[in-house]
Amino acid sequence: MTSVTAPSASATVRVPAKVNLELLVGPLREDGYHNLSTVYHAVSLFDEVTVSYADEWGLTVAGPKADGVPTDGTNLAARAAQLLARAGGVDEPVHIKIRKDIPVSGGMAGGSADAAAALVACDHLWGLGLTREALEEIAADLGSDVPFLLAGGTAMGSGRGEVLAPVLARGTYHWVFALSDGGLSTPAVYAECDRLRAGRDVPEPRPSAEMMQALRSGDARLVGEALVNDLQPASISLRPELGDTLEAGMEFGALGGIVSGSGPTVAFLVEGTEAALDLAVSLTASGTVRDVRRATGPAHGAHLVAGPRPD
Ligand code: C5P
Repeated sequence: MTSVTAPSASATVRVPAKVNLELLVGPLREDGYHNLSTVYHAVSLFDEVTVSYADEWGLTVAGPKADGVPTDGTNLAARAAQLLARAGGVDEPVHIKIRKDIPVSGGMAGGSADAAAALVACDHLWGLGLTREALEEIAADLGSDVPFLLAGGTAMGSGRGEVLAPVLARGTYHWVFALSDGGLSTPAVYAECDRLRAGRDVPEPRPSAEMMQALRSGDARLVGEALVNDLQPASISLRPELGDTLEAGMEFGALGGIVSGSGPTVAFLVEGTEAALDLAVSLTASGTVRDVRRATGPAHGAHLVAGPRPD
């Protein structure tokens, strides 16, 4: 007896958000980017991207964070699918459905996450079977932190953030994220960083021994003390209230606090589940933040979830 397996009509991929535990920014390069030395950490706030065969290319966004996400060809997930189609010699239009839970323009790489998820989903749907290296190369063309969202976990990033290397990191980390109204533009934050540092001699960024040791020890207290983000003064300069949020979180007992990436989301590291709940309640009651989310890290990178999801 022969059995025929019909090709699946859709593929769904789950992808995490990220926070940078360390984000060291070098001088402005001639191509408009900055060399980085960063430690990426994937956390358990997830978007889900479903791709289905369709007569023509299309994209819809659903979920609590859908507002403000472009649904045209400028959406990074749509660009990812089309870039992969060209690379794989595929002529099969797909409809992309994004279920958004990662804050939009929040410094948590939501757009990059959707692009990474679209690559993995389309690779599966079209049966391309590209290697991880091949997917990473396409990912790097889409954005500096897209390769990390494929990989997940905790990893070092260099170059403009797209060159990944493993980090020895132990332990599970508990986070509280303070969300703001409205996003911040990443290029605007980098430009403000350059403006604030004008006339200063900015060294090439190198990973700090302090963060590497803290991650090796798995001690959340040491990781909390080692958190650093060179973009933070720029994000606070553009949004002074972020400074108040950071102060409030530390007063309420966080082990460490940092602006996530280019912001405006503020990330607090706490001792455990109970401390996360306490901090979330205190921040909400203080009225200084619009919304709070709890998550743990590290989380897996973009991965296929079983079966198509109903609407
Ligand atoms: O790579 P991506 O498209 O995500 O970068 C968005 C913008 O952020 C860039 O156009 C640039 O202004 C800034 N950026 C930078 N240096 C990096 C990464 C991003 O200046 N390493």
